[in-house]
Amino acid sequence: MGYKNSIQLTKDKKLRHFLTIEGLPRAILVEILDNAESFLTVGEQQVKKVPLLRGKVIVNLFFENSTRTRTTFELAAKRLSADVLNLNIATSATSKGESLLDTLQNLEAMHADMFVVRHALSGASFFIANHVAPHISVINAGDGCYAHPTQAMLDMLTIRKHFGAFADLNVAIVGDILHSRVARSEIHALTTLGVNEVRVIAPKTLLPSAIESMGVHVYNDMNKGLEGVDVIIMLRLQKERMDGAFVPSEEEYFNCYGLTEEKLRLANSHAIVMHPGPINRGVEIESSVADGKQSVILEQVSNGIAARMAIMSMCMSGIAAGEV
Ligand code: NCD
Repeated sequence: MGYKNSIQLTKDKKLRHFLTIEGLPRAILVEILDNAESFLTVGEQQVKKVPLLRGKVIVNLFFENSTRTRTTFELAAKRLSADVLNLNIATSATSKGESLLDTLQNLEAMHADMFVVRHALSGASFFIANHVAPHISVINAGDGCYAHPTQAMLDMLTIRKHFGAFADLNVAIVGDILHSRVARSEIHALTTLGVNEVRVIAPKTLLPSAIESMGVHVYNDMNKGLEGVDVIIMLRLQKERMDGAFVPSEEEYFNCYGLTEEKLRLANSHAIVMHPGPINRGVEIESSVADGKQSVILEQVSNGIAARMAIMSMCMSGIAAGEV
């Protein structure tokens, strides 16, 4: 078991933290998707709750802004009957100079069972997972450019719901791959689940070096890259992580890498259009495509609740069942 899995799996190979998809066995990803599918209907019931995490305390620790991810984590926790605390970092003691570890110890003293962490620094959730008490689970809700594994799993759920299986699919990820934690986690998930081909479509300035070593095919020309694809995952330009000009202008970027109706016609006719949000209309995606019939962007948001319920309940039962 590699270093990453030695932290996130129990001795009997159950999930205990969810920090990255890299290296996780396919069986765990499939188990997450199967559980998530069974949770999809909870949102449609009169009483939108199951008692799986009753009595557990889940703390949302968001050191970076988020709307969708934080609220869907909160809803997921509430649907599992857990108590949820949303720590307002801007007004919390960390902004008064308290160290992160001291804040965590205080939350542990309040009997927290799980931390859901979003942080601007890559590796922050690993750091926290390495320092928490053995009964506490840590879930990465996005760290720097490194990983956003729950986003990848809700996207895999969306893809599986549309196509049933992964083996025949060609998937294109388009845009700011360099700064995108979503892209990295998607690539690990798609290759582990065994899709036919993963393509990344981006200008050279927005591609990490040696990206091919992750098992993807690189296209700088979007028109060529979209031919024959079943799934298109669009990404936002992550300006908050750019320390210079990576594209000449937003107009130029939209001309070359924006998804328009015209470009969408190059993909397979049944192709679905995805985006983790927030979308920037007219920068990476044409409005009519974002709102069009091939877009599944809002389905992704709904699926996020079920996928997060699955991951949270698996981590808690992994800790309860096994030796950590
Ligand atoms: C993504 C993120 O924060 O990494 N968004 C999200 O989780 N919904 C992608 C982005 O911000 O562009």
